[in-house]
Amino acid sequence: MKQKRGNFGSMLGVVLATAGSAVGLGNVWRFPYMTGQNGGAAFILIYIACILVLGIPGMISEFVVGRHSQTNAYRAYDRISGGKAWRFIGLLGVLTSMIILGFYAVVAGWCLQYLYAAVVGQVGGGTTAVSQYFQAFSSDPWRPSLWAVAFILLTHIIIIRGVRKGIERASKLLMPILFFLLLVIVVSSCMLPGAVKGIEFLFKPDFSKVTHSVLLEALGQAFFSLSLGTACLCTYASYFNKKINLFRSAAHIAILDSIIAILAGLMIFPAAFSVGIQPDSGPSLIFITLPNVFQQAFAFMPILGYVISILFYALLVFAALTSTISMHEIGTVFFHEELHISRHQAAWILTGCCSVLAVFCSLSVGANTDIQVLGLSLLDFCDKLTAQVMLPIGAFLTSIMIGWFVAPQLLHDEFTNGGTVNGWLYPYWLFAVKWMVPLCIVLIFLHQLGIV
Ligand code: PHE
Repeated sequence: MKQKRGNFGSMLGVVLATAGSAVGLGNVWRFPYMTGQNGGAAFILIYIACILVLGIPGMISEFVVGRHSQTNAYRAYDRISGGKAWRFIGLLGVLTSMIILGFYAVVAGWCLQYLYAAVVGQVGGGTTAVSQYFQAFSSDPWRPSLWAVAFILLTHIIIIRGVRKGIERASKLLMPILFFLLLVIVVSSCMLPGAVKGIEFLFKPDFSKVTHSVLLEALGQAFFSLSLGTACLCTYASYFNKKINLFRSAAHIAILDSIIAILAGLMIFPAAFSVGIQPDSGPSLIFITLPNVFQQAFAFMPILGYVISILFYALLVFAALTSTISMHEIGTVFFHEELHISRHQAAWILTGCCSVLAVFCSLSVGANTDIQVLGLSLLDFCDKLTAQVMLPIGAFLTSIMIGWFVAPQLLHDEFTNGGTVNGWLYPYWLFAVKWMVPLCIVLIFLHQLGIV
C-alpha cells in the first residue's frame, strides 16, 4: 500500500519550517560563544564568507536532492544519482542528526530548566551565586538528564502529529514569537550604559585574535547553523512542492539565519560588556554570565530584569524546539519508510536512541566527568565531531555527487522549476558545487591539519 507522503501546505510554511530548523541554539548559544572566543567581528566576517560561498550553494544542492526524490534522505541520494553507493551520504546524515539531537537536547534541557528557574525567580543573586547555581544544577546526575529527555519527548509529541499539523503549524507559531522576543531583548540590551563596547566588539574586526583553527570553527559553525550536511534540508525539501524557487528559498533562509545570529550577538555582548563581563567564557556564556547580566543591568527596575530573563529563556526554548523537530524528522521518516513501520513506531526508535545518548552527554559534563572521548566530555566531543567533521564531509560528498554524477539537465530543471523561473544564476551555482565547495572544504581541512 502506498501512503501519500506529507508535505508543507504553503510557501510561508516552507520558509518558516526550514528557517525554524536553521535558527536554533546554533544562533543564540553557539554563535555568540564562538564569536566571543574567536575575536568578535573577525570571526563573523569569515563566518559570513562561509555562508555565502559554501552555505548557500550547499543548501541548494540538498534541496535539489530532496525535492527531486520526494523520499527520505537515504533513498533520495540513490534516486537522484542512480547509484546505490551514494545512499551512504543519506545514511551519514541520519546518523549525524541523531548524534546532534543527543547533545543538543542537553543544552535545550538546560534552557527549559532555566526558563523554570527564571519564572520562579531562582536565577540571580550575584556572580558567584549564578555560577554556583549552574555548577550545582549541571553536576546533579538526574535533573539535567531528565530535562534533556523531556525536551526530546516534547519534540516527539510534535513530530507524531505529522508534517503539516505538527512541524508546519509549530513553526508558524513559534518563529514570529521568537523574532519578536529577540528584538525586544536586543533593544533593551543596546540601551544599557556602556553597551557601545559590546557593539564595537561585534563590528570592529581584530584579526590578531584569529587563530589557526578559526577557519574550521567558522566553517563548522556556518554548516551547523544552516543545518547543512545532516540531510535535514534534503528531508524538508522532500516536502516542498514543484513551485518553490530553490535558490530564492536558500538565500532567504541563509540571510535570515545570519541576521538572527548577529541579533543574538547584539542581545548578548552589549549587556555583557555593560556589566564588565568577558565575552570569552565559552559554552556556559548564556547560562552563567547572562542571568547575572540581566539582573545587574536592570537593577534600577528589578521587575524588568525578571521579565527579560523569562523572555530570554523562552526564546531559547522556542528556537531549540524548531531545530530539534527537524533533527527528529530526518530519522523518523527514514525509519518509517525504510523499515515499513508506522510513523509513531519510527518516532519512538529515534526518541529512544537519542534519549540514551542525551543522558550520557548530560552526565559527561556534570556528574560523571569520566565519560570522555579524546580528552573531551562526550557532549563536547559530539559537538565537535558533528560540526567540524561529519557536516563538512556530508556537504563535501553531496557537492561531489551533485556536481559530477547527476545529469545536468535534471539539475537545470530543478533549479529553474522546469524552465519556469529565471536560471541565470544556474551556471554560477553549478561551478560552486563542482569546484568551490569541495575545494574549500578540503583546503580548510588541510589547513587545520597544518598541511597548508
Ligand atoms: N541549525 C540548528 C541550529 O542552529 C541546528 C541543526 C543542525 C538543526 C543540524 C538540524 C540539523 O541550532
